[in-house]
Amino acid sequence: MCGIVGYLGRSPARPILLDMLAKLEYRGYDSCGIAVQGNPLRVFKDIRRVKELTELVPRDVPGTIGIGHTRWATHGGVSPQNAHPHLDCSHEIAVVHNGIIDNYQELRAELMLEGHVFISETDTEVIAHLLEKYYQGILQEAMESTIARLRGSWAMVAVAAKERTLVSSRQGAPLVIGVGSDEYLVASDAPAILGYATSVVYLEDGDIAAINDVELSVSRQGQQVLQEPKDISWSDGATEKNGHEHYTLKEILEQPAVLRRTLVRYLEEKNVGEGPRALFQETTDDLTILACGTSYHAGLIAKHVIEGLLRIPVSVINASEYACRPYPPATLAIAITQSGETADVIAAARRIKEHGARVLAVTNIPYSSITTVADRVMYTDAGPEVGVAATKTYTAQLAALFELVRSSPRLRPQAKEILSAGFVELPDMVARVCAISADIEDCARFIAMHERAFIIGRGVNLPTAYEGALKMKELAYIHAEGYSAGELKHGPFALLDGQTPIIAVIAADETRQAMLSSIHEVKARRSPVVALSYEGDEAVEKLSDFVIRLPKATCPFSAVVNAVALQLLAYHAAKIRHCPIDFPRNIAKSVTVE
Ligand code: AGP
Repeated sequence: MCGIVGYLGRSPARPILLDMLAKLEYRGYDSCGIAVQGNPLRVFKDIRRVKELTELVPRDVPGTIGIGHTRWATHGGVSPQNAHPHLDCSHEIAVVHNGIIDNYQELRAELMLEGHVFISETDTEVIAHLLEKYYQGILQEAMESTIARLRGSWAMVAVAAKERTLVSSRQGAPLVIGVGSDEYLVASDAPAILGYATSVVYLEDGDIAAINDVELSVSRQGQQVLQEPKDISWSDGATEKNGHEHYTLKEILEQPAVLRRTLVRYLEEKNVGEGPRALFQETTDDLTILACGTSYHAGLIAKHVIEGLLRIPVSVINASEYACRPYPPATLAIAITQSGETADVIAAARRIKEHGARVLAVTNIPYSSITTVADRVMYTDAGPEVGVAATKTYTAQLAALFELVRSSPRLRPQAKEILSAGFVELPDMVARVCAISADIEDCARFIAMHERAFIIGRGVNLPTAYEGALKMKELAYIHAEGYSAGELKHGPFALLDGQTPIIAVIAADETRQAMLSSIHEVKARRSPVVALSYEGDEAVEKLSDFVIRLPKATCPFSAVVNAVALQLLAYHAAKIRHCPIDFPRNIAKSVTVE
């Protein structure tokens, strides 16, 4: 959703701000803008893409300090007035903001009575006017007074016409400060600063960071705090396409490497005494998993494995539903969110904590908002994911969840051996799936001709079917429904005809025979069948119209192998259908509103 950037250094701010904004495009947005410091401030906005904004901003705009924003409309429609940066009445202060100011209406009324004139419908504009109200020549002090008046969430950066400073603040929304050579970068999302910064400072809730030519100083509740910059673990190349046509394809093909390094890290981490695994191991009675979308599907797979192998009952709840139903309190909640910023997950995690549960977060993003709520954090190691559709972060989540199970003392030794061996084989198996991308493309040609499809599975691969259907919807715009193979006959059979392909996800486990029966039933109703099956399963070969032959994986690893094949199937179908694969319409990478 919204993205923030800021720059203070010796180089012209314009190209750096625009480049950083381009690196945040993947978050999804509907307008964008920058402000370059000088007296007067120069502000440029556009309700199209960063490319158009770049054309709009004169190349020779002077100034070595500036801020920028990509906006995903919440309060007020998509218009140049509502786009950020927002200015005060005297055009001396500009601000960009992510989050929601809950008390903006009362603040707006108060400021209007005092003579402030508002030009937008946004909540953010009150921040610009409050900064103006409190500004006495030192922007940092005005920021301190301003945030004392705000309720809600924010990550913001402000710049003043007459000061060589950038002042930022965070409360409930992420903000990182990159430190380069003789320059500072501010961003809501680490990928924006890659290539400029060599180290990074993560702000915490309530922090105010003031940057000038000499230093970065961070204060919390009026006290200076020492913030040692940390090395950036992600490389700049991690957010490039590296020769691939789409980020999504690059990220799908990165999965063997992601799983390999995840495996090495988990197996090498001997001391788990204080970490997330220790918290998980303390849980013996009940467990709740909170997540949305793809992460919810990872939670469903985790439920299957935890209940099956550890005999701990698990409730998996769509985080957006948590507040709506009287769920019993759990002793432990696992909040799964690759971005760490999904508002529904954060709200549900806060609520379940209020009910007495402890929260273990599984996330891909260090210092993201969920980490401020969670008692412990299990990081996945997928690296930055630019494509809006989750691919490598999903399989990295599965690896993290399987590792929680593998490290549990409740796991029987034989099961532990099987899980450990499966883990070791997994990266190569996934590499073999990636290697047959061209075969999968052949099947995708057939699927791409249809407007609807069912993806069916059973057992641990039922959530795989759900996830495959989500990929097919968001990437290829095909109305695919993930369905229990056994449930089709209880209603959806009415939809089966020659125009409704069935994609059957088959694994070498106790569900195989029942899956074969389901395929028989479907064929009897004239629906074409594309089967995902393991090499050498002749019964499936005979029954199906198309077969994607995958390595034979044990449970639960078949869920990873099949998911990667379905990602490739959706990717190729989307490409054939000329869909905007990396940035599907209407959706955003991090959904930061409830
Ligand atoms: C899936 O491709 C989507 N990106 C979406 O369903 C996503 O998984 C969901 O919005 C939750 O995101 P999170 O993992 O960052 O919390």
